[in-house]
Amino acid sequence: MSKPNGCFITFEGGEGSGKTTQARRLADRLELMGKEVVLTREPGGSPGAEAMRHLLLCGVIKPLGPEAEAIVFAAARDDHVSTLIRPALARGAWVICDRFIDSTRVYQGALGNVDHRLIRGLERLVVGDTMPDLTIILDVSPEIGLARAERRGSADRFEAEDMEYHRLLRAAYREIAEREPGRCVLMDASAGADALAVRIWMTVSERLLRQRQPLAAPRAAG
Ligand code: TYD
Repeated sequence: MSKPNGCFITFEGGEGSGKTTQARRLADRLELMGKEVVLTREPGGSPGAEAMRHLLLCGVIKPLGPEAEAIVFAAARDDHVSTLIRPALARGAWVICDRFIDSTRVYQGALGNVDHRLIRGLERLVVGDTMPDLTIILDVSPEIGLARAERRGSADRFEAEDMEYHRLLRAAYREIAEREPGRCVLMDASAGADALAVRIWMTVSERLLRQRQPLAAPRAAG
């Protein structure tokens, strides 16, 4: 079994939805409880995958087409899962990852029209049973998300796509949340960061922490 004690949480959502901030806040809170936390991101997260991140985000892979892009994202993920995520879960750490398989399903699959059989095949090969225990999908309108991303001053090749693209992206994430309610929770991310952090903490507590509490020792009779 790949995660005997560890717990795997992923954050997903469109540009400017606040994933990175919320992933950090959740990691801090779990660390305060004394948990070992590995906070990571995709594309990247391990030395091999970080080398591929640059290629993916600077736009040199894009002309090769969305299938090639999906394969390079999967190659980066393969290194990340096998060198960082699996070993951390196996020693009982909590792994929090900023983007994971749903980003490929949405960006390359739903938006890039890559055949879902290729996407699922790559997932099976690379991720196998190392699926997230919980995926938090931060839902925000494209207008709010892009305004936040612009304020941050980041405009990589994905953020430069037009408004319609971002609407489709939001719809694709919502569809995943509807299809997989056991793994995914959709959260309104237009609220302030503090309120959102509280809701995320409640969800993690209810879905994951409570289940993992050791059972109280039976009281001695008499
Ligand atoms: P990044 O700079 O990490 O920004 P953010 O997560 O804050 O948006 O950019 C990662 C980009 O890569 C993002 O626009 C989504 C894209 N991406 C994919 O297209 N497929 C994938 O499988 C992953 C992990 C990311």
